[in-house]
Amino acid sequence: MQPLLVNKALSKIEAYAALFPQMKALLEGESNRTANLANFCAVLKETFNWWWVGFYLVENQELVLGPFQGPVACTRIAFGKGVCGTAALTGEIQIVPDVEKFPGHIACSSASRSEIVIPIFDHQNKCLGVLDVDSEILNHFDETDAEQLTKLLTLIPFGINPS
Ligand code: SME
Repeated sequence: MQPLLVNKALSKIEAYAALFPQMKALLEGESNRTANLANFCAVLKETFNWWWVGFYLVENQELVLGPFQGPVACTRIAFGKGVCGTAALTGEIQIVPDVEKFPGHIACSSASRSEIVIPIFDHQNKCLGVLDVDSEILNHFDETDAEQLTKLLTLIPFGINPS
């Protein structure tokens, strides 16, 4: 397989734009959800060099760690707890510029300073899990990340292949 090519000198929006067709090509021939989630994380980690990129998936009404790239992370998060649990409970994207200022933030790693969490829904609007991205840089994520990560997540057929 060819490595994904995104020039590091590109602006963030240009990098996302370059990444989209490459991610599409990588994921569209594969229907296995674990394989797609794993490659999705690997591509983002490699492209943006974020501290941690991964999924938490809903299982028995809690979030359970799924495919990820980065240091070891906590395995289970209750709905409503931390940034991930808040995104899953409210259904709203969480952009956290400073994790120390987020009440109840779960510190899987003391190096993480800011984060963004995008909830993922099936076709019935049921929350299937979240994408969590952490950075060791304060205030690293903004609306561009929220929009572009949401767009990239549409490439994963969550509702079709829930196994
Ligand atoms: N910080 C997250 C927990 C997950 S880890 O950062 C990988 C939270 O507060 O939900």
